[in-house]
Amino acid sequence: MSETGKFILGDKTVEMPVKHGSIGPAVADIAKLYSQTGMFTYDPGFTSTASCESKITYIDGDEGILLHRGYPIEQLAENGDFLETCYLLLYGELPTAAQKADFDYRITRHTMIHEQMAKFFSGFRRDAHPMAVMVASVGALSAFYHDSTDISDPQQRVIATMRIIAKMPTMAAMAYKYNVGQPFIYPKNDLDYTSNFLRMCFAVPCEEYKVNPILSRALDRIFILHADHEQNASTSTVRLAGSSGANPFACIAAGIACLWGPAHGGANEAALKMLSEIGSVENIPKYIAKAKDKNDPFRLMGFGHRVYKNYDPRAKIMAKTCHEVLGELGIKDDPLLDVAVELERIALHDEYFVEKKLYPNIDFYSGITLKAMGFPVSMFTVLFALARTVGWIAQWKEMIEDPSQKIGRPRQLYTGAPQRDYVKIGSR
Ligand code: CMC
Repeated sequence: MSETGKFILGDKTVEMPVKHGSIGPAVADIAKLYSQTGMFTYDPGFTSTASCESKITYIDGDEGILLHRGYPIEQLAENGDFLETCYLLLYGELPTAAQKADFDYRITRHTMIHEQMAKFFSGFRRDAHPMAVMVASVGALSAFYHDSTDISDPQQRVIATMRIIAKMPTMAAMAYKYNVGQPFIYPKNDLDYTSNFLRMCFAVPCEEYKVNPILSRALDRIFILHADHEQNASTSTVRLAGSSGANPFACIAAGIACLWGPAHGGANEAALKMLSEIGSVENIPKYIAKAKDKNDPFRLMGFGHRVYKNYDPRAKIMAKTCHEVLGELGIKDDPLLDVAVELERIALHDEYFVEKKLYPNIDFYSGITLKAMGFPVSMFTVLFALARTVGWIAQWKEMIEDPSQKIGRPRQLYTGAPQRDYVKIGSR
């Protein structure tokens, strides 16, 4: 017999089916609530709302667990590479050696972008933020690749998926090169995904560029850590945009726009700026006090998470990666790292942060790591977008392939003026 839950709403008692996932909290299926009671639910920020059913990623925020298709993030980051995680997110299983080789080959063959896109880039101001360039140029892919925008054609969906994953590093590198005034570097397909990206960012035509394998591996791991995170704001944006039947390039552009905000992907940029602003360990108490002050809007960037009420498992791997990268680059005394380590230590023992269960999140150490690798602060969120693209497209694909999929259409609690009659301008 199927399980139901009872809701008492005013003078009505209604029964709602209760659905159980494979792990995690059960959900009350309220789809018929309005037809049975005339009431909507009200949940701004979706703090208690499951917006969809998904098989891709699972988070247990209390325990600090993150699984992709059942595999712990720690194991994926330790043992595999980013394209393997991409395959897993898209298709549900780890690839065999032959499947992996085929997938890598197909992604690699889509790394170039239409030559006219280079002209498109030159329309931006030189000092444009690379995220602004990414929002526009990824959306513009639908104008260049309209042979893969018919979402009802499974083959076109596959090609669009390959294209987006393959072209993001090329476009991210172009956004960077444009900003620093250097020529675009074409992809080199005998390199792996992440080494190719590093080369497109840091090579110049007048010199040989040798990819540092330790940095490439570290960045690849950073990409794995960012690949997907279930129904976060940008992923929900992609799903909502896609629910209307919009093409995948446009949907990913919508996701990039949402990711840009400082409460989401923009936090890595904001965290590094904050560490620079704090400047030295002696200033930390002042900033801790600001973060705790209800009348001060300041927040410790890179701290806290809607879902994790424990250490973000990605943050632990990120902290380790940060030390590896700094070690490889021979950076012994990074004042920002000193501030970060001390800030983390103090915050983890401070009653305010302990009580509210505010722990470092993935963005706390990523900025220091990316800065040490040579990326400017304005590129941090672009790198997040590059890696999250696979999560967005995997979630979009899952939604499109779901036969019960409908357009997303939340309702509202209206608190504006009731109906009134129009008053002609001379009589107002
Ligand atoms: N510093 C100081 N106080 C904080 C912080 C912080 N970073 N984060 C939350 N709080 C306090 C907040 O003031 C509130 O206090 P009270 O209950 O007294 O009003 C309480 O903790 C709960 O905060 P909330 O804003 O209701 O929680 P939320 O789930 O809506 O917000 C968050 C989650 C990530 C937006 C928030 O923790 C935050 O703004 N953190 C800083 C930005 C950041 O690091 N974002 C990256 C998130 S991880 C990467 C990603 O997913 O994109």
